[in-house]
Amino acid sequence: MKKILLTGILIFALGACQNETKQNSETDTSVKTEKQESKTDFDHKAYKMKGMIIAKNTFKVFKSNIQTIAAKDGLPGVVDFCHENAEKITDSLGKLHNVVIKRTSHKLRNEKNKPDADSQAVLENYLKLQETQKPMEPVVKKAADGYVHFYAPIKLKKECLKCHGTPGQEVSDEIYNLIKSKYPNDKATGFKEGKLRGIWDIKFLNTANK
Ligand code: HEC
Repeated sequence: MKKILLTGILIFALGACQNETKQNSETDTSVKTEKQESKTDFDHKAYKMKGMIIAKNTFKVFKSNIQTIAAKDGLPGVVDFCHENAEKITDSLGKLHNVVIKRTSHKLRNEKNKPDADSQAVLENYLKLQETQKPMEPVVKKAADGYVHFYAPIKLKKECLKCHGTPGQEVSDEIYNLIKSKYPNDKATGFKEGKLRGIWDIKFLNTANK
């Protein structure tokens, strides 16, 4: 039952996103430029809210299902599932909300999740904020494609370490070999808890040239 199996890594990442959104505030000066620009042509705050709500709702859908997979097939089952379904899941949930949901990273597992120029810039900015230990706030801006996008950091949580931590330590040989067999160019290991794993990029399809 595919529907019942709506699960995968997304749930974890959405969890991270959810945490980020909770500590959201208006204090971060690094996003000032986007905010100032946005006031002139679209409702920055409304899209920020929408982005956070979509992430939260998606999280709920996945949460109830990932536990089923993990309990039934264990961690290798979750890796298999993500490999086969991560994209399908983000695609179908995106259609539901009239958005395009992407996850991207500076250290990719799946090369299909490669950042474009806009998400690359957001990633680099978050990495700088991380270096200086400043908060990473969600960002809303019009991207080069003419659409409004919502970006938010995905931070690594403890439960992610089993697949994104250090091989031979948190990542078992079994899981690491399985990951390598599916993603020979995997760069998404060696993360520490609390560090930036990647970002959400949610594109609002109703905002073409807004
Ligand atoms: C069971 C192993 C497993 C766990 C646990 C896991 N991931 Fe992943 N992660 C994967 C796999 C496999 C992919 C590739 C999915 C695909 O093909 O798109 C992935 C991809 C990602 C991506 C997309 C970017 C990329 O590199 O392709 C992000 C972001 C991500 N994971 C974050 C997290 C976060 C945050 C957590 C914990 C909250 C987590 N993951 C826990 C296995 C895991």
